[in-house]
Amino acid sequence: MKFSVITAEITQKLINVVGDNYCFTEKNSLEDYCHDETEDLNFPPEVVVKPANTHQVSEIMKLASMYNIPVTPCGARTGLSGGALCVHGGISLSMERFSEIIEIDENNLQVVTQSAVITQELQEAVQEKGLYYAPDPASRGTCFIGGNIAENSGGPRALKYGVTKDFVLNLEVVLPNGEIIETGANTLKNSTGYNLTQLMVGSEGTLGIVTQATLKLIPCPKRNMLMLVPFSSAEKACEAVSAIFKAGITPSALEFMERDAIKCTMDFTKESPIELKDNEQAHLLIEVDGNDSEVLFKECEVIASVVEDLECGEIMFAETEAQKEALWFLRRRVGEAVKATSIYKEEDTVVPRYQLPQLLKGVKEIGNRYGFKSICYGHAGDGNLHINIIKGNMSDDAWNNELTKGIRELFELTVALGGTLSGEHGIGYVQKQYMDIAFTKIELELMKGIKKVFDPKGILNPGKIFA
Ligand code: LAC
Ligand code: ZN
Repeated sequence: MKFSVITAEITQKLINVVGDNYCFTEKNSLEDYCHDETEDLNFPPEVVVKPANTHQVSEIMKLASMYNIPVTPCGARTGLSGGALCVHGGISLSMERFSEIIEIDENNLQVVTQSAVITQELQEAVQEKGLYYAPDPASRGTCFIGGNIAENSGGPRALKYGVTKDFVLNLEVVLPNGEIIETGANTLKNSTGYNLTQLMVGSEGTLGIVTQATLKLIPCPKRNMLMLVPFSSAEKACEAVSAIFKAGITPSALEFMERDAIKCTMDFTKESPIELKDNEQAHLLIEVDGNDSEVLFKECEVIASVVEDLECGEIMFAETEAQKEALWFLRRRVGEAVKATSIYKEEDTVVPRYQLPQLLKGVKEIGNRYGFKSICYGHAGDGNLHINIIKGNMSDDAWNNELTKGIRELFELTVALGGTLSGEHGIGYVQKQYMDIAFTKIELELMKGIKKVFDPKGILNPGKIFA
C-alpha cells in the first residue's frame, strides 16, 4: 500500500477543519499517540488531530481520502492488540473530545453517548438512576466506550450479561470517505437488512469511526456476594468452572488467577488482601448478583459444594464492601502487574469453557518445550484465558525467532479445542499473523471483501487484522 506523506499544505487543511489548538505535528506532542498498552510498541503518527464533532471527523476523512493518507482512530489508548498504533504513520485521529453522555433514557432503558466517554463514568452515571451498563473491562477507569465498541470488549461481568456487542443498539459512524451513517435503530429487536451495527462492533476501527452510540441498559442488580476459592491444582480450578454452570448457577463473574498472577500483583500493588498458602496453585474469584439475598446465599451454597467436591481449599467470603473492593482491585491489576515484571507478550485465547483445563495444560506443555514461562488469568466463566508469556531468562534469539512458533502452537491448540484467537482484546497489529489458524482462505477473503466495500482505498487503520 502506497500512502502519501502529509505536506505542510495538508496540515494547514487539517488545521482549517479542527483549529490551531487541535492539530499537532511537533515531536513532543506526538509522543502519547505513538503507543497504546500493547507491549512496548511505538509508531509515531505524522500528525495528531482532535476533532470536536462528527462533521469535523467527516471533513478529516474527506481530506485523507482525497490525499490518500492513512488514518488511525484512537481513544484512550488502553488497547492490548495495537489497534490504535499508527503503523503506517499518517493521521492519529484522537476522539478524546467526544466525551459527552447525551441522554440517559429512563423510559426505554437506553443511553445515547459520544464515543470518548470513559466506561466507568458511563456506568456510574446510569447507576445513579438505578440502571446498569454491564461490560467492565479491567481498564474501565480510563478506557473509552468507543474503544470498547471497536474491540468488542468484555470484562468479568460479560459472563452473565454479555459483552459490548450485546449492549450496542445503534451507532453513528463516519465512513472512510467521510459519509456519515446510522447503522440501525434504537430498538431492542431489529431484523431489518444486514446488521451493520454488529458488523461495526469489534471491527477495530478498520471500517468506520464511531462517533455516537445508543447502548442498552438493564436494571441495576441490588446485591452481590463474592467468594475466593483456592485450589492446589490449577487444572482442578479450571474443572470447577464448567461444573458450577452444570449445577445450574450463572455467576455474575467467574475469574481465574494462577498463583504467580496473584503473587506478582500483590508484590506490585504492595497490597495483600489474601495470604497465599504454599500449596495454593490457583484461585477462582466468584461473584453472584441479583436482588434477593436469600437466593444469592443459596447459590453460594451450591457453588461451595461444587468446588469442595473438586478438592478446593478454604473458601473466603468477602464480608464487607471494602473486602470486595480489595479482591476486585487485586484482580483488575493483574495485567498491569505482570507487565511490570518482564518483557512479555499477551495472548487472549478463548475456548468453550469445558475445554479450559485442556487449554491450560497445553499452554504449560508448549511453554516447557519452548522455554517460556506463562502467567495465566482471566475470565474463566467465558473460557477466556489471558496468557502472559514472560521473557524472563529466554535468550533474545529464542524470544525473537522461536517464540512465534510456540505462539502458533498455542493458537493451533486453542482452535483445535473449538476456540479462537481473541476473546476480547482484538487482533489488531500483534495477532494478525495468526489469523490463518482461525480462518480458511475463503473466510479471510470474505472479510477482506467487506473491508474493501467500506474502505476501497484502504486508508482507515491500515496494517490491522489481516497479515
Ligand atoms: C483483564 C484484561 C487484561 O482481564 O483484559 O485484566
Ligand atoms: Zn480480560
